[in-house]
Amino acid sequence: MKKTLLLYWAPGGNVELAARAICEEIGTGKVEMCDVASFDITRLDDFENFIIGSATVGAEDWRDTRDDNKWNEFFVKTSGFDLSAKKVAAFGLGNQILYPEHFVDSLGYMKEEVEKRNGKLYGLWPSSGYKFSDSEGATDGYFFGLALDHDTQPELTPVRVKSWIEMLSKKMAF
Ligand SMILES: Cc1cc2nc3c(=O)[nH]c(=O)nc-3n(C[C@H](O)[C@H](O)[C@H](O)COP(=O)(O)O)c2cc1C
Repeated sequence: MKKTLLLYWAPGGNVELAARAICEEIGTGKVEMCDVASFDITRLDDFENFIIGSATVGAEDWRDTRDDNKWNEFFVKTSGFDLSAKKVAAFGLGNQILYPEHFVDSLGYMKEEVEKRNGKLYGLWPSSGYKFSDSEGATDGYFFGLALDHDTQPELTPVRVKSWIEMLSKKMAF
């Protein structure tokens, strides 16, 4: 049984690309990866570590269940799931050039949802090396998880993933 689960949304773009890079860095035999809409939530308790990935796509109300972001549905369905004994880390995709006032906001929503379930986010990531003016996903010089801008800094994605996983492996012991 693998002890780490990586859940992501959406499939087919940069989030999935980053998810694959993260799994490869951890070692594919050590982590199960699934898009969040396909995952059978009755299996959640089989895992000790969770890595959750999303992109900020600018919805006014990110949690509007009518949009096609499947994280919304997942969070509604798992509202009673207790994360206090689990380790959770988040990664978020964004574009700091086009959206400097909302860069990787989704990391903030992830934090909020994890904390509602008595969990906390591991793998905070320094916000130096990015240019943005505001983010729901950052405070005091740190993002709440790994921030990736694969639109404007694709060359940095592999190195960022590598050092984030190095850092996380101390906490999550993959
Ligand atoms: C309609 C739209 C709105 C976006 N809004 C934001 C935003 O508010 N903040 C941000 O950091 N990135 C924003 N982005 C950039 C995406 O998060 C980025 O391109 C990401 O890599 C997309 O991941 P995907 O290919 O998996 O969908 C937006 C992209 C689109 C297409």
